[in-house]
Amino acid sequence: MEEKIYMPRRGKRKNKEIAISIAIVVVITIIILLIVSAVKKANYKKTYEYKLGQVGYSKDEINELLKQDDKFLDHLLEIEYDENILKFMKEKYYLEKNLDSYLSYAKENSKEELKNVVAIINTHANNDWYTNTIKTDESLDTKILINKFYYTDENYEPEDLVKIKNWYAYGEGQLMRQVAYDKFISLYNAAKEDGINLIINSAYRSYKDQDEVYTDYVSWYGETEANKIAAKPGFSEHQTGLAIDVVTPGYNSKTFEQSDAFVWMQKNAYKYGYILRYPKGKENLTGYDYESWHYRYVGEEIAKYIQENDITYDEYYAYFLEDK
Ligand code: DAL
Ligand code: ZN
Repeated sequence: MEEKIYMPRRGKRKNKEIAISIAIVVVITIIILLIVSAVKKANYKKTYEYKLGQVGYSKDEINELLKQDDKFLDHLLEIEYDENILKFMKEKYYLEKNLDSYLSYAKENSKEELKNVVAIINTHANNDWYTNTIKTDESLDTKILINKFYYTDENYEPEDLVKIKNWYAYGEGQLMRQVAYDKFISLYNAAKEDGINLIINSAYRSYKDQDEVYTDYVSWYGETEANKIAAKPGFSEHQTGLAIDVVTPGYNSKTFEQSDAFVWMQKNAYKYGYILRYPKGKENLTGYDYESWHYRYVGEEIAKYIQENDITYDEYYAYFLEDK
């Protein structure tokens, strides 16, 4: 006969209690997990990653954008998604402060390369010439910028103007800044050694001198044409004493481009701190027709950068010096 195993009633009750406890732990764990997951989700919705995704940015774009600071990201959340944003950010002379202007300019001028849009906006060339003008910072010394937006006072006259020996210049009593003159003499001597003879046609021009030049051009060619070749008084680099118009015997300004002297200048002027100020193909940035004869002293370091990177001084100034 089979022997009955004695199971005390107390044991059964205990098993039931354990089962209930396990069930409670499981339920509590599930609740905790659900809460954690809900909190995580709520927190994720507060992240830039999520918000940028909502605006329309792709995963890759978001990864790039997350390297930017919060102020910039907050701004992106306020404006529409634009596929050009990341493209502009990769441009060499991109300036964050100009992003909105790049975007709207690119929208209105969809055929313009983004690189050009950056240059146009950075240099203010999206404005009509001589509008929204800014008083230039004369304390920048040889780095001073003068163009159709940056002007100098009627009374501005550099302190170290010196007379140019007539050996180097046409006409008596031409003036330029000492610092630029010293470098011009080195440049002149180096050119001479290579069989090139350079002559300064025009150097420093006071506000009044420039007024006469400009007025003459207007009377000869009309205002539209005059504006392409001459600056209004206060807006001419010649007033800084750092600009020179050079020629070589047998050539005038118009034909200088065809001379060996011009080829020499293209190759060597930067070594002495001089740059070709109004290059071909950059008329939309400088505001002037190409001038093969007009050189500006900016110092050797800047001249070298401009030579190597093929930019105008307007672009250089906008990127490296403006608002600094
Ligand atoms: N020809 C240059 C632009 C000037 O008048 O200053
Ligand atoms: Zn000139």
